[in-house]
Amino acid sequence: MLSRKLQDAINEQIQKELHSEYIYLSIAAYFKSRDLDGIANFFFVQTQEEHFHALKLFNYLIDRGGTVVLKEIPAPPVTFNSAIEAFEKTLEHEQFITKSINDLMDLAIKENDHALVSFLKWYVDEQIEEEATASRLLNRVKLTGESGPGLFMIDSELSKRTFTPPASGE
Ligand code: FEO
Repeated sequence: MLSRKLQDAINEQIQKELHSEYIYLSIAAYFKSRDLDGIANFFFVQTQEEHFHALKLFNYLIDRGGTVVLKEIPAPPVTFNSAIEAFEKTLEHEQFITKSINDLMDLAIKENDHALVSFLKWYVDEQIEEEATASRLLNRVKLTGESGPGLFMIDSELSKRTFTPPASGE
């Protein structure tokens, strides 16, 4: 049985993952409004990933006999001044989520919950990829600047991204 402290912390993390989904939906709207449908597609797929991250925790909490308590989700920023700013916000947000996962892992270790420690390793690994992708795209957008063929090429590449639920997600 999960401790009350851990149950609360998992519910907080569910809220953060759903908030991530909301932030990326807003970023997708920004790029779509600039007719950069490929970059918008990247963020639409990202919303699906975040939803998956939330549901994985949601199902785990129920499997462990806990209670899912859904919390209010704050409104995301409505618009962005540039593609660079949107990718900067993405990287900052992923760094925030990494810290949050690490804090949750610290708590699971402190509470001696070996099962949760094992479960959270998936998120620790996932955050390496999340930050690396955000950082790589930010650097590339910085290189190309706000307009021109470079941004168009990034848009074209990101139009191919699709969502594939990880096999370990059940
Ligand atoms: Fe669920 Fe992008 O971290």
